[in-house]
Amino acid sequence: MDRIRIVGGQRLTGTIPISGAKNAALPLMIASLLTEDTLILDNVPRLADVSLLQRILGNHGVDVMIAGKRPGEIANGGRTLHISAKHIVDTTAPYELVSKMRASFWVVAPLVARMGEATVSMPGGCAIGTRPVDLLIMALEKLGAAIEIEGGYVVARAPNGLRGGDIVFPKVTVGGTHTAMMAAALAHGTTVIENAAREPEIGDVADCLNKMGARISGAGSARIVIEGVPRLSGARHKVLPDRIETGTYAMAVAMTGGEVLLQNARPELLQAALDVLAKAGTAIVPTNEGIRVARNGAGLAPVEVATAPFPGFPTDLQAQLMALMTRAHGTSRITETIFENRFMHVQELVRLGAHIHLDGETATIEGVKHLTGAPVMATDLRASVSLVIAGLAAEGETVVNRVYHLDRGFERVEEKLAACGAAIERLSA
Ligand code: UD1
Repeated sequence: MDRIRIVGGQRLTGTIPISGAKNAALPLMIASLLTEDTLILDNVPRLADVSLLQRILGNHGVDVMIAGKRPGEIANGGRTLHISAKHIVDTTAPYELVSKMRASFWVVAPLVARMGEATVSMPGGCAIGTRPVDLLIMALEKLGAAIEIEGGYVVARAPNGLRGGDIVFPKVTVGGTHTAMMAAALAHGTTVIENAAREPEIGDVADCLNKMGARISGAGSARIVIEGVPRLSGARHKVLPDRIETGTYAMAVAMTGGEVLLQNARPELLQAALDVLAKAGTAIVPTNEGIRVARNGAGLAPVEVATAPFPGFPTDLQAQLMALMTRAHGTSRITETIFENRFMHVQELVRLGAHIHLDGETATIEGVKHLTGAPVMATDLRASVSLVIAGLAAEGETVVNRVYHLDRGFERVEEKLAACGAAIERLSA
């Protein structure tokens, strides 16, 4: 497996292009199952998770064509995918594939909505907690699907089609909201989703579904209303910029000092995180081209943060913020409220010299003057990139092992950072 080698101590200066959002690209690709026509997606990031989902969709009979280079295109920019689910030949998503990526469970919704049947493996445990799918199943049942669990598989049946219904989520769930929205788009009648997730990626998927002929209103608020239609058609849609990648690089600049333009980034997608960075002493300036992030001279101030559903501080930036706070002047407190046990980065940060004390859901971080490079590894993608951020500030050499996790969610992390002056390289296995 590849590794990333970092020698800390360099400031970051320059421009980092922000890619299309992984967490929008995945459900958008899954939405292609809802129509016989071709769905064209622009600005799709080059990520291992996208390639894996391509394989999973291929197993259902979906063709994915990746467009070649076009005039004026920047090298390594987002790609354009032409996705055609004209003939669905298989409504089963097997364990070998679903267990590799949890979001692939979401195919259950468009498959049962369009084909009247879906057999999808339960995703199983994962490094950041138990992550059940009970609320996704509840939503499909509210839309009239009969659900059975057989041999580790969820079998959803609606031979006469789904019908609209009222879905009240007892807890905010991004995957639950995506699947309810996709299934309801093709149901007979009207669906109301209460306590819906408000994450920007929900709005992006709703926009695309509406271009395909769906009738969805209220996406981005806690109440989404969907009037079902008998069929959806093809469309063309550009994936919105990745707010987690944006926040991650903003924290990297806050860590090293320097000044970087995060090109294509949109501040309204991560205002809570930008506010925290400003409080910590980072200058954040929105521009026409993106967001300019700078920290010069002054040290980092400590912060108190609890993760929350959007518009709160995202759990997907919790590990990166913790890496940053290891160098703050004083004591920070970070509480994780979304996922139990999303603290695997703590012990690895401690190996680099951080002072972190865990008590239940809350980590207390005493800022230290120096981190010291060491070999580290992590078992989920946000935790992995937090170790890269720590490595950028650590004295000497840090080697991040198991880079596979980084490649799942961050496009060319070492190239983007090296272009801004970081001493970072990929060591191929
Ligand atoms: C999505 C994101 C992930 C992010 C998370 C929270 C994608 C591909 N992934 O994951 O990066 O960290 O949102 O912002 O978009 N829950 C249940 N029962 C369910 C479903 C969820 O109890 O049926 C719980 C989960 O265990 C968790 C909470 O609800 O505690 C939120 O999970 P959810 O929003 O569903 O996360 P994902 O959609 O899996």
